[in-house]
Amino acid sequence: MWRLYRLLVGLITCHPIAKLGGYMVTFGTISAISYTGAIIFARADSAYAGIIFLLLVPSSFFGGLALIPLGIYLAFRKAYLQEPSLRNKPLGEILRRLSGEEDVRNRIIVFILFTIANVVLTLVIVMAGFEYMDSASFCGLLCHKVMEPEYVVYQRSPHARVVCVDCHIGPGASWFVRSKISGLRQVYAVMAGTYSRPIPTPVEHLRPSRETCEQCHWPDKFEGDKLKIITHYDTDRNNTKRYTALLLKIGGPDAVGTRKGGIHWHVSKGNRVVFISEKDERKDIPWMRLERESELPVEYRFTGTDISNQEAATALKRTMECVDCHNRPTHVYRTSDEELDSMLSLWPELQNVPYLKKASGEVLARRFDETSIQRKEVGRALLTWYSDRPEEKADPALLEKAAEQVQEIYSRNVWPRMNITWGTYDNHIGHSTDTHTAAGLGCLRCHGNNHVTAEGKAVRADCRLCHIILALDEEKPPLFDFMVHKEK
Ligand code: HEC
Ligand code: HEC
Ligand code: HEC
Ligand code: HEC
Ligand code: HEC
Repeated sequence: MWRLYRLLVGLITCHPIAKLGGYMVTFGTISAISYTGAIIFARADSAYAGIIFLLLVPSSFFGGLALIPLGIYLAFRKAYLQEPSLRNKPLGEILRRLSGEEDVRNRIIVFILFTIANVVLTLVIVMAGFEYMDSASFCGLLCHKVMEPEYVVYQRSPHARVVCVDCHIGPGASWFVRSKISGLRQVYAVMAGTYSRPIPTPVEHLRPSRETCEQCHWPDKFEGDKLKIITHYDTDRNNTKRYTALLLKIGGPDAVGTRKGGIHWHVSKGNRVVFISEKDERKDIPWMRLERESELPVEYRFTGTDISNQEAATALKRTMECVDCHNRPTHVYRTSDEELDSMLSLWPELQNVPYLKKASGEVLARRFDETSIQRKEVGRALLTWYSDRPEEKADPALLEKAAEQVQEIYSRNVWPRMNITWGTYDNHIGHSTDTHTAAGLGCLRCHGNNHVTAEGKAVRADCRLCHIILALDEEKPPLFDFMVHKEK
């Protein structure tokens, strides 16, 4: 052991390149310690410092480790040129000669300390690196331009505090390795500029969400009905507020306790809905089969498709799971209508700006390019709408606020650089209605009265299957008079 150390220390100092390697390892060591210290003690974690850390420290540390043997080899070449017979000596003898074994006592002590430090450090670097690569700021900002839309909308979602990897990778080593491999390919695509704009959805080979979402959500716990009150505003002068109230049958026994089933029935124990979709896009569904415990499977076909039994048997199938409905649990792009309704709910005073819903809707429907968005021309377009109509006498302070909000709404939903605009990404929760168009067919992909069994029985689609409509676009629904505080 002792002899081995003496040998190694000698070797590290046998050639300038090997020495440089030694310095680099030392540099990597010191910066890793100071960076880790900064995170732990000063909580100074920034995406950019992280990227520098990730690029600089490992390359210095591991690059240094690689330079050491190179230096040794160069030293060997030099010695060999002077003394060709060296080549025939046993390897041990050659190394001993290169290391200049005699005067290494002091160096050994230093070297032992370094070795211990290096082992610890390798661990720290690897762990800090992985930890950092798992952070949302890394995923969202390293590929800054590419994933900025996903990151921005994510930050406003219910899952803003859930790190990307919890859904995109989940626990376990094999998915971790897979993700790092596909990550490398993505980094290449970003550097080469060959990535798709917009980033395609659905995500290919996303880990089954039963293994990710179910880390936190427990599907069998769904029970009862959920009251959901949705507010909409008209495009009239008063931006009239209207209420829709739904009793959503999210699952388990319903409120009255008469039946079990409901929306989460598709993912509860004993039920499987298996389906085929065009190009795995999960939009057009020509065939599906319901498999329930202790019941015969039931097959449904889309009316008008002539998919044969053989084709159905061999086609790629998918078992319905969380993301087949919740495809936007966190990257929530909204329609301009939804955004404006939510703006007016959040700032009720804006309802006093005449025709605000209509004017903003018209502005948001226009196309603005990257530079006009940056120059805040969206907001300005709204101000122009009103300056062209002085008779409306809109309050300037309120208008200013509205312009700011409309600008914000546009810039977080429309990304010209990535070819993302209103409706680029469908949301499968719900369905478009004639009054308020949600993006995409949602539940009606299967519940649209178009999927029938051989006997002609369709997947149920009656309005009371999924919700009970307690109020529909009513100004003053008598039903919840007591809930809605009186407005002037
Ligand atoms: C709550 C779970 C969840 C979290 C957290 C999450 N994602 Fe996603 N992500 C999804 C789902 C679900 C999809 C769509 C999957 C599908 O339809 O196949 C998706 C899709 C994407 C897509 C493809 C484009 C799209 O919008 O469909 C990108 C890129 C992406 N996520 C990046 C990120 C980044 C970066 C983060 C962290 C800042 C993140 N995700 C955090 C669940 C999540
Ligand atoms: C790390 C834990 C975690 C993971 C993983 C996770 N969620 Fe959540 N989810 C939460 C928490 C916490 C909330 C409650 C947030 C709140 O109420 O603000 C939530 C809320 C939700 C909601 C209700 C949203 C709303 O508007 O109130 C849905 C739907 C949901 N999650 C679906 C999913 C789906 C689908 C996945 C997998 C793609 C997933 N979640 C993965 C923690 C998680
Ligand atoms: C058939 C479509 C569908 C599937 C499959 C589905 N959900 Fe849902 N989920 C819904 C709908 C619809 C709602 C109600 C939406 C709302 O509140 O606006 C909902 C609501 C939720 C909520 C919020 C519940 C609450 O009390 O507010 C969570 C959490 C959730 N789902 C998680 C999951 C998870 C996890 C899975 C997979 C195991 C899953 N869902 C599968 C359609 C689905
Ligand atoms: C991939 C196809 C598919 C999609 C998408 C789908 N469903 Fe279903 N759903 C089915 C099938 C198949 C059945 C069983 C046939 C039937 O009940 O007529 C079913 C049954 C149901 C039931 C009755 C469960 C019970 O109590 O017996 C409800 C409620 C339901 N779905 C709600 C929804 C909602 C809400 C959505 C959208 C968020 C949705 N489904 C999307 C295929 C689908
Ligand atoms: C397969 C399940 C299903 C069926 C069938 C269904 N709905 Fe819905 N509906 C939903 C879900 C899920 C939502 C979304 C709730 C939410 O906002 O999260 C919704 C939302 C709505 C809304 C509110 C839209 C808004 O934003 O204001 C209305 C209105 C509505 N449905 C009407 C109907 C009518 C009318 C029918 C019958 C023709 C019907 N629905 C059939 C599942 C269904």
